[in-house]
Amino acid sequence: MFLRNCWYVAGWTNDFLAGAPVARTILGEPIVVYRSECGDIAALEDRCCHRLAPLSKGRVEGADLRCMYHGLKFDASGQCIEIPGQGVVPPRARVRAYPSVEQDCWVWLWMGDPALADRALIPSALNHGDPDWYMQTGRLAYEASYELVNDNLLDLSHLSYVHENTLGRNSMSWGESRPTIAPIERGLRISRWVCNQPGPAYLDLPPGTRVDMWASYDYVVAGVFLLATQSFPVGTAAACGMAAPNGEPLFRTTTSQAVTPINERQTIYYYSGCLPKSLVSEEASRQQLVVFERAFAEDNAMIEAQQRVIHRTPHPVMLGTSSDHALNQFRQLMAHLIEAERPKLSAAE
Ligand code: FES
Ligand SMILES: [Fe+2]
Repeated sequence: MFLRNCWYVAGWTNDFLAGAPVARTILGEPIVVYRSECGDIAALEDRCCHRLAPLSKGRVEGADLRCMYHGLKFDASGQCIEIPGQGVVPPRARVRAYPSVEQDCWVWLWMGDPALADRALIPSALNHGDPDWYMQTGRLAYEASYELVNDNLLDLSHLSYVHENTLGRNSMSWGESRPTIAPIERGLRISRWVCNQPGPAYLDLPPGTRVDMWASYDYVVAGVFLLATQSFPVGTAAACGMAAPNGEPLFRTTTSQAVTPINERQTIYYYSGCLPKSLVSEEASRQQLVVFERAFAEDNAMIEAQQRVIHRTPHPVMLGTSSDHALNQFRQLMAHLIEAERPKLSAAE
């Protein structure tokens, strides 16, 4: 089950070069994303209405896309505007168009009713394209349901175990602390102190530096993770009464991550790592990405293995624990939104 009236990340803006159509599958739907000769992004059903050839094998002509099987040409709205050798183009000669927006270095597609596509619903990625911050980017494909990837990001207690040698930094604090969870517009805000943990190795900190880190993230439908961390001297968390800090941290980091379902069993995951130029070198930023790549490979191995077990379990039953609160609340929110859009979808059919 997918939420359709929602923006999904289709890739980094530099994935889409002018004149080079790109095939994507999102929510099981084949889509061609292309950049017109003047630089605008468009997204169409990747299936020509003539003989169903993929338009991703087509040719960009100005703002239009020509199928390179028999030459039908489509504008960015999906309307066929030319059929070679045929004077009349019937209005029904068209393919579906997806509202598309470039924002914060990502290309976003609206997968539901185009009349409901509202740019204001696109979550703002943190520090993407900010000239004062370094940004490194990556992506990872999963042979697993997007729901399991969301679950993973909504329960960071796994950092102490899956990532004991990378992001968890040999600290039990992630596993033992419980975050506060608050509802936000179309999502949850999840915040906690991670106390007395080693500073990240990619920062040029004095050996043995330990910090109290305030980690707070928004998780927004259908799977956008926006995390900001602020690190302070050990003892700050207790001095704040474990509430949110208000002083200036020793250092801060941000990462924005987007989970996009390819289909029910495959997922693509786009992520950034951002660090302020005032505090770190570009090399430190690259080192952070190396750590992220190792860590996300750890997630990938665990979640794909989990998915295989679930597939071969006839009636999978999961035991709830207190670390599941956020993922349960998010699954309920998604189920509610998916249910709420059902009448609209059937009314439009
Ligand atoms: S299949 Fe596209 S023009 Fe024939
Ligand atoms: Fe992880």
